[in-house]
Amino acid sequence: MVKVEIYKRDNLPEIIDEIGIIRLNEFKKYPDLYVSTLERQHMYFNNLLNDPRSIITVFRDNEKIIGFCISTPLTCYKYIPNLKEELEKKDININECYCCTDVIILEGYRKKGLARKAFDIQEKHASENGFKKVVLFNTVDDIHHPLRPHNYVTNNVFFEQLRFKSLGLVLSMNYLTLQPDNSTKKEDHLLNFWEKEVLQ
Ligand SMILES: CC(C)(COP(=O)(O)OP(=O)(O)OC[C@H]1O[C@@H](n2cnc3c(N)ncnc32)[C@H](O)[C@@H]1OP(=O)(O)O)[C@@H](O)C(=O)NCCC(=O)NCCS
Repeated sequence: MVKVEIYKRDNLPEIIDEIGIIRLNEFKKYPDLYVSTLERQHMYFNNLLNDPRSIITVFRDNEKIIGFCISTPLTCYKYIPNLKEELEKKDININECYCCTDVIILEGYRKKGLARKAFDIQEKHASENGFKKVVLFNTVDDIHHPLRPHNYVTNNVFFEQLRFKSLGLVLSMNYLTLQPDNSTKKEDHLLNFWEKEVLQ
């Protein structure tokens, strides 16, 4: 049976390697094609969890982690240039936004409502901490990309099912990217932003 656990900065060391490996494996796939090291995952998780309002919702089947969702004030996410200013152009105050930076459910456990459950926990936590919106982003689907699987389905549908609305905001992030010949290169990636009002 799948169990749910909540982690914060104090008990993050217990899971950091396991979720780091999941993150490296999953985001190396299309559309993210993200290549990094476990050491950098440690830095990433420690930065995001440094705020006491940040949580990681973890799903375990027996002892194995089979999914997780990171929820943090959007101000903790420092990887997108000019994010605060771009949100201001849309009349959004970054301080009022909670954010899902990562949600991953392993294949074999998908379409069973686990991510939806993590988002319910996240929204409740956002409300209790006085945030007005939950914001998230995903990589824009490039239909001509050579590494795109022919049966790839964009996760836009997933966000829409969870009542997120597109913000009409697309921003760029630069990171080491897997190439079709298996080499790596730093590249810009377009991110599509989504928002949902938090019920108070
Ligand atoms: C996207 C992802 C997190 C969804 O997790 P999940 O546990 O399968 O999602 P849920 O079962 O809670 O689904 C929630 C709703 O979205 C729908 N949904 C989920 N994935 C979908 C998809 N790929 N396409 C269409 N609808 C989808 C479900 O049908 C469900 O709607 P319903 O309750 O009305 O049936 C999972 O597919 C995943 O880990 N993908 C790889 C990582 C990723 O892309 N993360 C998102 C960007 S950070």
